[in-house]
This record gives sequence, C-alpha cells and structure tokens, in this order.
Amino acid sequence: MTKAPFRVLVTGAAGQIGYSIVLQIAKGDVFGPDQPVVLVMLDIPPMAAVLEGVQMELIDCALPTLAGVEGVTNEEQAFKDIDFAFLVGAMPRREGMERKDLLAANVKIFKSQGRSLANFAKPTVKVLVVGNPANTNALVCAKYAAGKVPLRNFSAMTRLDHNRATAQIALHANVPVANVKNVIIWGNHSSTQFPDARHAKVVKGTIPLWPPTWF
Ligand SMILES: NC(=O)c1ccc[n+]([C@@H]2O[C@H](COP(=O)([O-])OP(=O)(O)OC[C@H]3O[C@@H](n4cnc5c(N)ncnc54)[C@H](O)[C@@H]3O)[C@@H](O)[C@H]2O)c1
Repeated sequence: MTKAPFRVLVTGAAGQIGYSIVLQIAKGDVFGPDQPVVLVMLDIPPMAAVLEGVQMELIDCALPTLAGVEGVTNEEQAFKDIDFAFLVGAMPRREGMERKDLLAANVKIFKSQGRSLANFAKPTVKVLVVGNPANTNALVCAKYAAGKVPLRNFSAMTRLDHNRATAQIALHANVPVANVKNVIIWGNHSSTQFPDARHAKVVKGTIPLWPPTWF
C-alpha cells in the first residue's frame, strides 16, 4: 500500500463498543481497503491487560490495512498526531439511568480529551463522539479543543435513535428496512427525543403504505 497511514484513535477500546469497532477500522471497512491505518487504543490503567489482549488479537489477524497497533493508557501518547478519533470511552448507563445521568461523570473525561485534542492531535483531526450523552459530550469536547480544532470537525453519533425508529417502522409495516425513508428524530439524544414518523415514506413493492391505520 502506497498511501501514508492514518493515525486513528479509539478510546475505551477495552470496552464492548470499542472492542467491536476496532476490527472494522483495522480491516479497512471505515477508511477503505487501500488505506493503511495505525490504530491507537486508549483505555484507563486498570484495563491495560485487556487492552493488551485486544492488541494481540488484532496482530494475530495479520490484516493488510493495519500498519500498526498501539495500546496506551495515557492521553498524551494517545492523542499525539492523530488524524481521526472515535471517542467511545465513557461511563456506560446502568439500569434505570438515562443518558443525561451520565453527564457529571463524563464531562470530566471529555473536557480533558478536548484539551488533549488541542494540545497533541493534528489540527485537521476529525472526531466522532460515541460515549453518551454523545451530543453533549461532543459539545464539551469541541469547546475545550476550540482555537485548535474547528467545530465542524466534531460529530456525535446519534444515528442509533434514527436507526431504531426506522427498524421499528419496518417491523410494524412488515417491509425491509430499505423500504423506509424520511424518518426524523427531533430533540436531544436522551428522554426528550421525539421520533417523527409522520413524514416517513414506506413502500411495499411500489405501493405507498404510510400512514397505516395503526399509526
Ligand atoms: N452513541 C451511540 O449510539 C452509542 C451506542 C452504544 C453505546 N454508546 C456509549 O458508548 C460508551 C461505551 O459503551 P460500552 O458499552 O462500550 O461501555 P463499556 O463499559 O463496555 O466500555 C467503556 C470503556 O471505556 C473505558 N473508559 C472509561 N473512562 C475512560 C477514559 N477516561 N479514557 C479512556 N477510556 C475510558 C472503560 O474502562 C471501558 O473499557 C457508553 O457511554 C455508551 O453509553 C453510545
């Protein structure tokens, strides 16, 4: 491969979501089959041994797109010269908690990571915040990276809400998901979100099927 590798950071790489996305990034599903990546995985020090296990598994895969894999537990090393960041590491919701209940714990993490983006990452870095509440964490992170990394380089992964609503409509209408379009989610990525199915377009074969009587 002739292209220079991207340095791609995944935080919380020893956790459930991190573990499931590192392989997709490493094997070319995200940046393409001809784009090498150096995967940098950050987690907290108590997870160092798990991180090492993930690192060994990725090495064992012998993936042509994986130009290197690093497991680290300090932010300076993790954010150094990165081109892309998937900020997954956060405290997950426990039973009975809403996404917004995580705010106090997670604001600290995203403040610190915003500063690390500003101090150590390439100024062109693109950031996807996954840790919940994702949109609020993205705002916090962008605020602390301001002046170095432009606001437009930050995204929050709220698409899950859209996908859930689309999948539910498809199930109820008994059509493939591909036949459901124009579902909108309004509000915050927490309990004030409002799935708007009124403007949905659903077809069975070529026949429009929306709104149904049960809507
Ligand atoms: N936006 C979405 O659509 C979406 C979907 C699923 C999960 N999530 C969120 O993603 C986050 C991770 O979920 P999970 O199921 O993988 O949780 P998990 O508990 O399995 O993993 C979280 C990992 O983050 C690590 N971590 C904690 N603080 C860290 C820090 N300061 N720096 C680096 N790593 C740190 C933990 O040690 C752990 O390994 C949660 O906030 C969850 O709510 C978001």
